[in-house]
Amino acid sequence: MPSTRRVRSTPRRPWETTAFALGALLILPLAAQADDPAPSLPVITQEELAQHDQPEDCWKAIHGKVYDISEYLPQHAGPPAMVEPWCGREATEAWETKGYGAAHSDAARTLLEDYLIGIYEGEPEATAADGQQD
Ligand code: HEM
Repeated sequence: MPSTRRVRSTPRRPWETTAFALGALLILPLAAQADDPAPSLPVITQEELAQHDQPEDCWKAIHGKVYDISEYLPQHAGPPAMVEPWCGREATEAWETKGYGAAHSDAARTLLEDYLIGIYEGEPEATAADGQQD
């Protein structure tokens, strides 16, 4: 009598199942993120910016973005007389020079991004050639 040969598929090893599950756990959130674009910021005109020119309602345009720094102003390290006149205005030059020629620190740059509210559509930023605030 001829012997019957049993063909057996190799059973999946436990570590293979675990590796597959871990891979899926890592990849699925990344795939979900790719489908979820960053929310777009509103475009803010010079006219709208200019309406927020008070210390308690203070927006500033810096490097093409608009920041609402009203809540931060009372904690600002510099004198109010130096920062408040820039509320409602394009303030890149003042931001980059602090009024005396020194740039804000990296920590200050990171902090600024907490107050980002929009993209500036007004006049392009002042250049060094335009001179300092007076
Ligand atoms: C745009 C007009 C502004 C001007 C003219 C200005 C000016 C100044 C001045 C005079 C000082 C103190 C002196 C010094 O540390 O060298 C200072 C410090 C500082 N300012 Fe401003 N500031 C402005 C806007 C801002 C904004 C919008 C933020 C953040 C939301 C900010 C964050 C800081 C911080 C964190 C410091 C501590 C020092 C540093 O990290 O550079 N400033 N600023």
